[in-house]
Amino acid sequence: MESNALSIDFAGLNLPNPTMLASGIMGYSAESFHRIAKSGAGAVVTKSVGSQPRTGYANPTVVQAESGIINAMGLPNPGIDVFTEEIKFSKTILRVPIIVSVFGYSAEDYAAVAKKAADAGADAVELNVSCPHVKQTGAEIGQSPKLLAEIVQQVKAAINKPLIVKLSPNVTDITVLAQAAVEAGADALTAVNTLRAIAIDAETQMPILANKKGGLSGACMKPVALRCVYDIADQYEVPIIGCGGVSNWRDAVEFLLAGASAVQIGTAVADDIEVFQSITKGVENYLRKKNARSVKDIVGLAHRK
Ligand code: DHB
Repeated sequence: MESNALSIDFAGLNLPNPTMLASGIMGYSAESFHRIAKSGAGAVVTKSVGSQPRTGYANPTVVQAESGIINAMGLPNPGIDVFTEEIKFSKTILRVPIIVSVFGYSAEDYAAVAKKAADAGADAVELNVSCPHVKQTGAEIGQSPKLLAEIVQQVKAAINKPLIVKLSPNVTDITVLAQAAVEAGADALTAVNTLRAIAIDAETQMPILANKKGGLSGACMKPVALRCVYDIADQYEVPIIGCGGVSNWRDAVEFLLAGASAVQIGTAVADDIEVFQSITKGVENYLRKKNARSVKDIVGLAHRK
């Protein structure tokens, strides 16, 4: 791959540019990943896949919020054994890395799914630790440093590919979870998953989503996600992917300055699939204007004393 100001070595992944499709947006088909890659994404992250097929929650699963959306899909997915075929096919047509998002109900479960994804050709695995934990209904695995470390250790031992942990913002101090993940062997972190939220209908006087609560994403959460990245980068040297409300090049630059070296784009892709290209072009112009030779030159600049 030709090296230029935009290309970046991220935790061993060769990215042509620092933009990635965030998990949960384009389903599971190789064709949709191909479309995203052709639109300029530097990597694609799949929707989360588990050990068994799941149908997910009843409708409504998505509701519009102020400058964002709230969703509670219930992790619908075909199960890893079906999905491995799509991973294999994706590898034959994609020229950018495919990162498989994995969820589970125990450390063993996570490790088994991650291993199947890696064996099928996933270039990296991203752990979704924001799903409710079975033994602790309503809580997220990603809220407990101990559970998180256990999962990361077992997945790390099971695969030979970069391991990315997507952290939850629904915690008091995200650096505690970042530390647990890094010490347990995470190669990189994604900051962050969705914020827990609810929408209530004044007419029916009831929650709108069938699951009542869901995850908030989009522009409204950018300042929170940016703060999470900044907090982690302030304490650790780990590679970070910024995620939360990125919809234009300026948002992407802000995440790079906060300490991320790549960004994921989710909600904004639904409005404009060309968003990857426009962000990459905008970042390139910005680097030129600021006399920076590469993305790496501006990562974390907002931390200078
Ligand atoms: C769902 C999963 C998530 O990780 C998230 O951030 C939001 C929604 C879900 O499938 O319900």
